[in-house]
Amino acid sequence: MPLSAARDPFKVLIRFSMVFVMLLSASAARADLHQHPVLLPAKVDAAKCLECHKDKATGKYVHTAVSMGCTVCHTVANVKGATYITLSSRPNQLCFTCHALSTDPDLHLPYKEGNCIFCHSPHSSDFPAQLYASPQDVCMACHVRGLMKVNRTAKTLTLSWGTIIPFKEMNDWSYLNLDKTHKLNHPVEGHPVSGPNVALGKDAPPITCITCHDPHHSPGANLIPPKYKNATALCLSCHNGPLP
Ligand code: HEC
Ligand code: HEC
Ligand code: HEC
Ligand code: HEC
Ligand code: HEC
Ligand code: HEC
Ligand code: HEC
Repeated sequence: MPLSAARDPFKVLIRFSMVFVMLLSASAARADLHQHPVLLPAKVDAAKCLECHKDKATGKYVHTAVSMGCTVCHTVANVKGATYITLSSRPNQLCFTCHALSTDPDLHLPYKEGNCIFCHSPHSSDFPAQLYASPQDVCMACHVRGLMKVNRTAKTLTLSWGTIIPFKEMNDWSYLNLDKTHKLNHPVEGHPVSGPNVALGKDAPPITCITCHDPHHSPGANLIPPKYKNATALCLSCHNGPLP
């Protein structure tokens, strides 16, 4: 699918918001300038936020950072009788204020670009690591044809959980040629990408995309997990001896 550069909506927003930015503070890039619907006291703590936003701190998996208080990521400022709540850094820099980028040479683009929130909720979700879906469904959402909605006019993709991604964040993107059930044909024809790992017996954990790929980085290529020296070592971890 040909992808071309789209206008950066962030830059447009920044331009319109310049006046407010200067009013608020010059210290950090302000991301999301909307007037908060409720006027808040200038000095608020997380307990106050949670009176109305309890969902941000509840759920099966809650981000550890939420217990550090909402204001580690959100800045609250009152200007002329109205409250403005902004992110404390640009959205694609915010996570790096606490999580270091891997120094491995092979980095998954959305991870490298700091677009962590394409896959993770910053607050909480029903899936481990606050993912928006199971790891398998997260991977398939971008790599299996037909699972996302494409808007060619706006040059965006909408993933199954509602996240909207500009084409320009998807450089070098590729689809897998899976069968209709989305379970077979990668990395070689007929190979399972999910289901029981019959190669290692019934007690082995089932196969998923992240059995064979790290979601973020690899010292080698193709996001092969760091614990394998190369793709062959990966194959041999399940197939010992000649391949079936
Ligand atoms: C008295 C209720 C109330 C309190 C207290 C409150 N909020 Fe809100 N907030 C709302 C409502 C209502 C909305 C609009 C609906 C929504 O997005 O949930 C909103 C929207 C937001 C938004 C999205 C819109 C925007 O302004 O960017 C953010 C971010 C937000 N709140 C953060 C916070 C934080 C952080 C705190 C604590 C410092 C807080 N809120 C305290 C009621 C409240
Ligand atoms: C680790 C950083 C981080 C922490 C901690 C955090 N937020 Fe957020 N929050 C974000 C980011 C990033 C967004 C923008 C998400 C997006 O654009 O999808 C956001 C968006 C929001 C929104 C508006 C969009 C939505 O999801 O409803 C609300 C409301 C909100 N946060 C409330 C809170 C409250 C309340 C707390 C404290 C309990 C909190 N946040 C703690 C990073 C954080
Ligand atoms: C204020 C510091 C801070 C920021 C900002 C922050 N995190 Fe975290 N995060 C932590 C801490 C502390 C932990 C728990 C220790 C660890 O795993 O490193 C954590 C853990 C996590 C985990 C593992 C599950 C968990 O909660 O233990 C995920 C996933 C995660 N963060 C994603 C993100 C994403 C995505 C962003 C940006 C929206 C972000 N973090 C921004 C501090 C932060
Ligand atoms: C393409 C989707 C995707 C993106 C983008 C992404 N992650 Fe993850 N992340 C995952 C998956 C999948 C897991 C693994 C969950 C598991 O093992 O069950 C994970 C796990 C984590 C964990 C917990 C385990 C660990 O590796 O320490 C942290 C922390 C984390 N991610 C932080 C981040 C940060 C920070 C970013 C952005 C710089 C980011 N992630 C970008 C998909 C993603
Ligand atoms: C938000 C969309 C998105 C999601 C979700 C996503 N990917 Fe990707 N992926 C990309 C893009 C864009 C590329 C091409 C750029 C690159 O090579 O990193 C890519 C490339 C790859 C590559 C080749 C990269 C390399 O470094 O050689 C692998 C392997 C891969 N993804 C696996 C996964 C796995 C496993 C998951 C689930 C944890 C996943 N992807 C989820 C967007 C996504
Ligand atoms: C049994 C291990 C295995 C599983 C399971 C697996 N992959 Fe791969 N994947 C590989 C290997 C090995 C390569 C490198 C293939 C090559 O060089 O031809 C690869 C390459 C890729 C690439 C790079 C582009 C391409 O088509 O070669 C993407 C994207 C990718 N995988 C995504 C996924 C996703 C998404 C899933 C889950 C639906 C998945 N993989 C499951 C082993 C696996
Ligand atoms: C996580 C375990 C796992 C890994 C890693 C793995 N495989 Fe497999 N492989 C399987 C399972 C399970 C089957 C299905 C076996 C069966 O049905 O008997 C299979 C089947 C195959 C088949 C036969 C496909 C068919 O048409 O039936 C080939 C060829 C194969 N694997 C090659 C590879 C190669 C090459 C690699 C490394 C890139 C690899 N496998 C990595 C588990 C794995």
